[in-house]
Amino acid sequence: MLTIREYPDPILSRRTSPVSEIDRNLRHLIEEMFGTMYEGRGVGLAAPQVGEGIRLCVLNCKGKPDGELILINPVIVSATGEATDEEGCLSVPGIRSKVTRAERVTVRAYDQNGKELELEADGLEARALQHETDHLNGRLFFQLLSEPGRMAIRRQLKQLEQQFEQ
Ligand code: CO
Repeated sequence: MLTIREYPDPILSRRTSPVSEIDRNLRHLIEEMFGTMYEGRGVGLAAPQVGEGIRLCVLNCKGKPDGELILINPVIVSATGEATDEEGCLSVPGIRSKVTRAERVTVRAYDQNGKELELEADGLEARALQHETDHLNGRLFFQLLSEPGRMAIRRQLKQLEQQFEQ
């Protein structure tokens, strides 16, 4: 499986480039990303988390084969409401925080066949979609926290920073 890049790896804070061609290599990467995501027991994984600076993410919030979502060049076209829930990230191991995000989103993207799709989501799926598209813009979930929330995880973040240096 692929190696998951962990905070503060600089690739996680860079903006990614649009996917220009859906070819065999990309389909292979998608397969490997699903495997890596399932192995880590995550519900979503974005390409920069495995060292690829492109606008691609995979999700499965249902835990069943028909729950698999592949999003190429995704764009959130609408976001409404507000919801707060606990969140974590395979690239920020051991840290979970309550994050406030939009409650409902509409996302437009291309699938692995180059077909344009639009999907509406709420609940966990809406949260995961926002979390993954944030990754494509170089943003990690804890950057959305208010000051007290950040203070609460400051020591854990420092630990990850020290581990990365070694
Ligand atoms: Co993440």
